[in-house]
Amino acid sequence: MKRFALLTSGGDCQSLNATMRGVAKSLYEEYGKDVEIYGILEGYKGLIYGNYKLMKPKEFSGILTEGGTIIGTSRQPFKLMRTLDENGLDKVKAMKDTYKKLKLDCLVILGGNGTHKTANLLSQEGLNVVTLPKTIDNDIYGTDMTFGFQSAVNIATDAIDCIHTTAASHGRVFIVEVMGHKVGWLTLHAGIAGGADIILIPEIPYDINSVVDAINKRTNAGKRFSILAVAEGAISKEDAKLSKKELKAKQEKSPFPSVSYKIGKEIEEKTGQEIRVTIPGHTQRGGSPCAYDRVISSRLGAAAAELIKKKQYGYMVGIRNNEIIPVPLADVAGKLKMVSPESSMIKEAKGLGICFGD
Ligand code: F6P
Repeated sequence: MKRFALLTSGGDCQSLNATMRGVAKSLYEEYGKDVEIYGILEGYKGLIYGNYKLMKPKEFSGILTEGGTIIGTSRQPFKLMRTLDENGLDKVKAMKDTYKKLKLDCLVILGGNGTHKTANLLSQEGLNVVTLPKTIDNDIYGTDMTFGFQSAVNIATDAIDCIHTTAASHGRVFIVEVMGHKVGWLTLHAGIAGGADIILIPEIPYDINSVVDAINKRTNAGKRFSILAVAEGAISKEDAKLSKKELKAKQEKSPFPSVSYKIGKEIEEKTGQEIRVTIPGHTQRGGSPCAYDRVISSRLGAAAAELIKKKQYGYMVGIRNNEIIPVPLADVAGKLKMVSPESSMIKEAKGLGICFGD
């Protein structure tokens, strides 16, 4: 009997169930009745505290189109993994104990950056681990694409599309704040797809005067409205010079609920135009996976099962040039895939007249 467990960790996305279905279908296909698949409940929390359930094959049916995760998720910060819990429990030992108790052949982990640091730690601790790249942020190192990203791009783009019509009617400046604290992939893609005039991302610190110039240029050309796609982690040139600690202190004292409101106020003062801010927020992680995500989730799931069959552990399945490849966990953990300000995509966007505030 082969025994595997699935675990989903960190922020959810639309395509987690589709991916688990891909893994499970391929494992049942290979091992038939000689396989048990466990669901570790609520991410690493379930592994630490021994909360899991034996999954029935039928639980993986009908979930291709279902957002969220049927086994729950939670955020368990990597930096606290080596710290004892409030009852003195050694979390790493506890996770290893659950793995041993279940007599697992492999633990299959679906998650983003933080999740991969802990997955790498477990692999270094001797557990058989295979991972899959999940996040709407598309910021996992070693893969061109993460599942969840395209679905989120579609939702953020829809939000910008809806704002376009009302912005045009009223002749207002609209800011749509898109998810992404550290990286701007989602804002960049949704901004281009939604025809935003200004895109502000964490990788390219902005000068508010450049943003204002871009809006004034549009106004002088007779355009009655402007649309900004702003990443929640967008940062001014001035703030980018601060240390992490100084920035945190400044943000805590800020009267604005998020960077978009600060930018909105500055634009209002400098241009006299009417500003509105829209934040689609967690809707960007909700609903059904788009067709593209369903395809890559199914492919990644099948590829993860293939690694398991070959007993090739300690890898994430990634996508490069549309081929699925194994990437060593040690190469993935602790790195972020950021937008390069020098990339051709940024140059092309600038060629379209999009302002990045730099
Ligand atoms: O990592 C995915 C993500 O949606 C980010 O884009 C966002 O900044 C963050 O999670 C929000 O986290 P939470 O769900 O904990 O509010």
